[in-house]
Amino acid sequence: MSIDIRPYRGEDLEILRVLTVAAFDGVTLEQNVEHALGILAGHDWRWRKARHIDDDATLFPSGIFVAEHDGMVIGYISTRIDRESGKGRIPNLLVSAEFRGHGLGRRLIEHALQYFRGAGLEWAAIETMEQNEVGNHLYRSCGFEEVARQIHFARRL
Ligand SMILES: CC(C)(COP(=O)(O)OP(=O)(O)OC[C@H]1O[C@@H](n2cnc3c(N)ncnc32)[C@H](O)[C@@H]1OP(=O)(O)O)[C@@H](O)C(=O)NCCC(=O)NCCS
Repeated sequence: MSIDIRPYRGEDLEILRVLTVAAFDGVTLEQNVEHALGILAGHDWRWRKARHIDDDATLFPSGIFVAEHDGMVIGYISTRIDRESGKGRIPNLLVSAEFRGHGLGRRLIEHALQYFRGAGLEWAAIETMEQNEVGNHLYRSCGFEEVARQIHFARRL
């Protein structure tokens, strides 16, 4: 199967939003918050999660890389660069469900790491939910070391 990884274009945003909402069911903090507190400010977790890719596209569109098969977008990885601290961060990564398990997630991560190296950075960071079994496996297997665990709290006002 031929899959290309190419730079993001503005017209990708809507499909990336759709894929994001579908892919993160069960593995996003936004949904955990909704399970705990219910609908907030009239918005569900999908609305909040879609805004994460909006942020990526607004703040650093040239750091988003899109995976495409037969002209169809099937995944993406977003990045941020902090040159002063030599750090590259990966805020979002997904592969459409039907294309998972064939190494595309790893390819997207390797693509982002090469991009960081090309930018002269020294280290890379990514985070995942404890409940995300694939993320926990994949990131370690891509050479990331666990450095901390964080506990998220939320309450209604
Ligand atoms: C995470 C994600 C991008 C991985 O994409 P992918 O194309 O399936 O990734 P790969 O095929 O390169 O690798 C998946 C790895 O997870 C492993 N895996 C699959 N199911 C697993 C499970 N239930 N528990 C542990 N490992 C699992 C696979 O064996 C593979 O590891 P290997 O290469 O050592 O054999 C994809 O699952 C996804 O989009 N998930 C939903 C969104 C998400 O969780 N994004 C990351 C948020 S931190």
